[in-house]
This record gives sequence, structure tokens and C-alpha cells, in this order.
Amino acid sequence: MNSLSETYKTADWKNEKHVPVIGAPLAVKKGTVVPVTVTIGKEVAHPNTTAHHIAWIALYFQPQGSPVPYEIGRMEFKAHGASAEGADKSGVYTHHEATMKLKTEVSGTLMATSYCNIHGLWQSTQVLAVE
Ligand code: FE2
Repeated sequence: MNSLSETYKTADWKNEKHVPVIGAPLAVKKGTVVPVTVTIGKEVAHPNTTAHHIAWIALYFQPQGSPVPYEIGRMEFKAHGASAEGADKSGVYTHHEATMKLKTEVSGTLMATSYCNIHGLWQSTQVLAVE
């Protein structure tokens, strides 16, 4: 493997806990503000501990015909139980889910990425049609 892009993994989110699950309508009317929720571990829960957690999620949208995707937003998850008393002692954990909103004039593809601190980079996509 010689490039970062080759390290991104994907799978069926119903069986693989790392895959970002995109929750968005399949089609919207032009000019609609579209809420998009990205969840990790929707079917198979992912751990959320100091030693093993989801560090961030990022969402992109690539309009049809565009040579590049546009970054919609990014959410970093910072609380994973660490405290001065040690790992998993604070009792405070950020849940790895984020809702972002976008508006687009053209159809395209939503692209979600996530990063597990020990299992690396994951991705998924969903087409968004604009009518
Ligand atoms: Fe993991």
C-alpha cells in the first residue's frame, strides 16, 4: 500500500461496526436544507473507551460532474473516559454521531468517512437526488 486512499475500508454496516451509516433522504427538492446524520455502529455497537473509540467523522458531497468533493463538515469526538485518575475513570464519553445540514442545487453523492483510533479509516457513500 502506497497511498492513504488505499487504507480506507468499507463493508456492509449491518455487519461491520466501523462503517459510517449515512442517514439522509434519497431525494429532495432543489433548495431544501437537508439534514444528514452520520452514525457509527448503528447495528453493531462500536466500543467507546479510552483505549478504543471513534475519533472523528467527516462528511463530503460531490455534485454530479464535479471533479472534487466538497467538505460539508467534520465532528471530532474528544471525551473517551480519560481522567487524572486514569483510563475510563471520568464517566464522560462523547457519542460518535453527528448531524450536519447542506443545501445543493444539483444531485450528487454524500461521502462519509470515520476514524477509529485502532482500526483506521472507514467510508461509505449515498446518492442524493435533487429534483
Ligand atoms: Fe474500532
